[in-house]
Amino acid sequence: MKVINFGSLNYDYTYQVDHMVMPGETLASRGLETHCGGKGFNQSVALARAGIPVCHAGMVGEDGGTFLEICRKEGIDTQFVRTCPGKSGHAIIQVNPAGENCILLYGGANRRNTPEQIEEVLSHCEAGDILLLQNEINLLGELIRGASERKLRIVLNPSPFEEKLLGCGLERVSIFLINETEGMQMTQKTEPEEILSALGRMYPESEFVLTLGEKGVFYADGKGERLYVPACPVKAVDTTAAGDTFTGYYLAGMLQGKEKQELLKRACAAAALAVTKVGAAASIPYAREVDAFLSE
Ligand code: RIB
Repeated sequence: MKVINFGSLNYDYTYQVDHMVMPGETLASRGLETHCGGKGFNQSVALARAGIPVCHAGMVGEDGGTFLEICRKEGIDTQFVRTCPGKSGHAIIQVNPAGENCILLYGGANRRNTPEQIEEVLSHCEAGDILLLQNEINLLGELIRGASERKLRIVLNPSPFEEKLLGCGLERVSIFLINETEGMQMTQKTEPEEILSALGRMYPESEFVLTLGEKGVFYADGKGERLYVPACPVKAVDTTAAGDTFTGYYLAGMLQGKEKQELLKRACAAAALAVTKVGAAASIPYAREVDAFLSE
């Protein structure tokens, strides 16, 4: 069984700020760091660091060589990362002293994937392979439809959420990994229990993992199973890529055959470690670091 992650690759410009810039305000930042990120790229790195071979598919611009280099160093298969004229995607990220962030995206090459490229990637997949998706690329509906026709297992992190995602055939998704905001946007409910119940009614065949940041994580499926695991308390420096780390480690634990409670705990621990460091992919821990943290 293969894992294909068809997702975004962004250069992240991370500014340290005293507070998030407000409408009409000009704000001096305390510093700037540039990192490789993008929800897709971060999740491939998390899978690789958790010990799962992953093939990344997507599009970078002429400036995208650094992503390919890092992928090779991390052992991520890049045979389906294409290069197009123009710029790669980028993100402008503000991080405040509490470690919270605000992200402004420029899609760039992430919005230039083609139907031919999708066909090529899917033609290399077999029934039962896993297709991991987020919502930072174009043609998501086509990907979901094509993958479902080939009987792939679709795992979706619907981030960032937008209304039109609901028209992309989400009933074909096997596992949703969602944060609280996305859960509220998808269901118009506010309480985690209500969000999970509403999602269960919308997609009765799917499983759901609802992350609540420092409040922990819920798991639910259409058969009535519900689990809760508390978050690991840490001092947050930068929460960027915490959700991506969780997604990669959750999927990895599942493929490694870990029992659900254990894999939720492990994914929480990995995400907690990620928030103790600045940056996106750079903040994602290796499996040995997660093991050490869990045994403390
Ligand atoms: O989830 C974090 C990521 O969101 C950042 O790396 C940024 O590129 C945006 O895609």
